[in-house]
Amino acid sequence: MTQLSPAQNPPADGTPAPKTPAPGGPAAKPASDSSKKALYGGKSSRRVTVRDIAAAKERGEKWPMLTAYDAMTASVFDEAGIPVLLVGDSMGNCHLGYESTVPVTMDEITMLSAAVVRGTERALIVADLPFGAFQESPVQALRNATRLVKEAGVGAVKLEGGERSAHQVELLVSSGIPVMAHVGLTPQSVNAYGGYPVQGRGEEAAQQLLRDAKAVQDAGAFSVVLEAVPAELAAEVTRSLHIPTVGIGAGIGCDAQVLVWTDMAGLTSGHVPRFVKQYANLREVLGSAAKDFAEEVVGGTFPAQEHSFR
Ligand code: KIV
Repeated sequence: MTQLSPAQNPPADGTPAPKTPAPGGPAAKPASDSSKKALYGGKSSRRVTVRDIAAAKERGEKWPMLTAYDAMTASVFDEAGIPVLLVGDSMGNCHLGYESTVPVTMDEITMLSAAVVRGTERALIVADLPFGAFQESPVQALRNATRLVKEAGVGAVKLEGGERSAHQVELLVSSGIPVMAHVGLTPQSVNAYGGYPVQGRGEEAAQQLLRDAKAVQDAGAFSVVLEAVPAELAAEVTRSLHIPTVGIGAGIGCDAQVLVWTDMAGLTSGHVPRFVKQYANLREVLGSAAKDFAEEVVGGTFPAQEHSFR
């Protein structure tokens, strides 16, 4: 369905994109090995794997991750070369109209994950295990993760929690299911927190965060999301792990960065967290397209002749 052209993007290591040589100037060099391998901006005719993610950490390459909840937007991000797409339980707030991630069910996440997989060719698709789908036991986690892999076709799952979820991570990984862990602010605990507070502030909380990150690494996670954590602490965690950290509200020192796509593209209404950067204003663009359409219908100018059959 999608056709990638990531080679047109600048290499992820920050080196400038190759320029067309001036007439009579030196011939363009073929792409270096490292740019072929790059997670973002590299060439690939196959899906990104967790081995590619590990290799990026070794190269010191930073990479982007976005959420996706449907085939069409997922195909846009895949064509843009985003190497990892997360079917996050943020679909609760961003796509399904719930107040939080808590109500999201396995049926909902399985259906939307399958759509994201169908809409993409290259990205590694990671699906969240929603609240209540893994806390009971490692066996419950395995049953639900297996469903996401078999029914939706995802390449990995994500689950919240550090030390408290380590047994779940261990069983999934030993069963052949790659796991992205998630520590710091874990939004499924919104009712326990009474909101979405920054985590890891103060010595004791910082030590707990380090223990959580190490616990999921030791359990076999291939990467770990650090959410709403002071930047210096996130950088320290990143230095102390051999798996990549994926920051959201965790500063520049992480190996990768993730944003919820509706926040990143300016589709979200109302409050957006301080760590979000809006790269577009889709809410305005879509709203204005809808109004233009409505005005032409009301004014009798749509459909015009070119939109009608003879
Ligand atoms: O559900 C989600 O979108 C997430 C990201 C914010 C990391 O967990």
